[in-house]
Amino acid sequence: MLREYQEGLLLSARSFQSGILDTTYENVLEHIDSGIMLFDEEGVLSFINNQMYGILELKRHALVGCTFLNLLTHIQLSRFRKRRLLSIYRETVYKGKQSHEFADEFGRYWRVTVSSGEKMNGHYLFVIKEISDYKLIEQTAYQNDNLAMLGKLSASIAHEIRNPLTAIRGFIQLLRPHLHQLGKDEYAKIILAEIDRANDIIHEFLTSSKPSVPQVGVIPVSVLLKEVVLLTESEALMKGCEIHLHPFSDELNISVDVKQMKQVILNIIRNAMEAIPERDDEYIGKVEIGARRNGAEVRIFISDNGKGMDICTLDRLFDPFFTTKENGTGLGLSVSDRIIKNHGGCITVNSRVNEGTSFIISLPLIQ
Ligand SMILES: Nc1ncnc2c1ncn2[C@@H]1O[C@H](COP(=O)(O)OP(=O)(O)O)[C@@H](O)[C@H]1O
Ligand SMILES: [Mg+2]
Repeated sequence: MLREYQEGLLLSARSFQSGILDTTYENVLEHIDSGIMLFDEEGVLSFINNQMYGILELKRHALVGCTFLNLLTHIQLSRFRKRRLLSIYRETVYKGKQSHEFADEFGRYWRVTVSSGEKMNGHYLFVIKEISDYKLIEQTAYQNDNLAMLGKLSASIAHEIRNPLTAIRGFIQLLRPHLHQLGKDEYAKIILAEIDRANDIIHEFLTSSKPSVPQVGVIPVSVLLKEVVLLTESEALMKGCEIHLHPFSDELNISVDVKQMKQVILNIIRNAMEAIPERDDEYIGKVEIGARRNGAEVRIFISDNGKGMDICTLDRLFDPFFTTKENGTGLGLSVSDRIIKNHGGCITVNSRVNEGTSFIISLPLIQ
């Protein structure tokens, strides 16, 4: 294909030079999805298509008769574009690379390919093409591959850690009476609590990394939320915060794995309660829970008036093991996100520092 371009280009350039415009080739080159520039053996620009003018943000015909050097100092060319052209020149013509990739100021990726040599009769052909889509696919494939590997590796490490932990726990329990005699029972307590915490993390990780088969059943959202709120009321009482379940206007049914869905809502409510700071003033921590229909889906919202999140936290919220808590696992939201996606839904978040956070779970409704 490239050869055809090149032959076409040469032909087009010759016709251009000789004044006979071959409209077929011209048309093809003008409507190609890449920017094209052809320099002749004297380094003078002999052809440039519309796309290329667009990429350089120049008016049509502004460049006829230019050399590359003229181009680099062209009055209408932005400083950013000049710098970019210079680096393309350095990477391709100077260093002799056939292709060069770069990202522009808007985060778009581009690839420049340069063809020259005998076959090109001393001409230099520059083809610039946007490759953002390919890059995205490439990066996602790379990340997925890495994540899959990392997942397998960490699951086997987690499994291996569990056995020695069980042994340590057993021996500490055997030693406990002796420690008690020495007045060091506190140490045993701390060790046991820490081992239990490590076990909890491993358990949460192993169950979350195993693809469990969803046990799907139909449940009204109101029932689901009432049951979860019931589970959290004693915790809320201890924390001194209020949980308010908003009344429902109509019956909204969803088809979900009830256990998994309860885990998700519980995770988010617990996070909300944990985000409520302990203060001496009049402030009362509140968690509001409710649901409403939005077209063919239901939106379950869980809002709090807690400490909120900054941009950095929001950015990494759903990353596995991301936590800002001393005793956190950082798995709650990454698991929840996966569960909701598996159900064909999504989780969105709005948050303001010192004002609060609102999580919205959207799920398809049963008609
Ligand atoms: N309602 C919330 N308000 C403020 N920060 C939150 C809220 N929910 C989650 N976060 C932030 O997201 C992080 C990750 O949450 P999660 O995945 O549940 O892990 P963990 O609760 O173990 O830290 C938390 O450490 C916290 O910084
Ligand atoms: Mg959590």
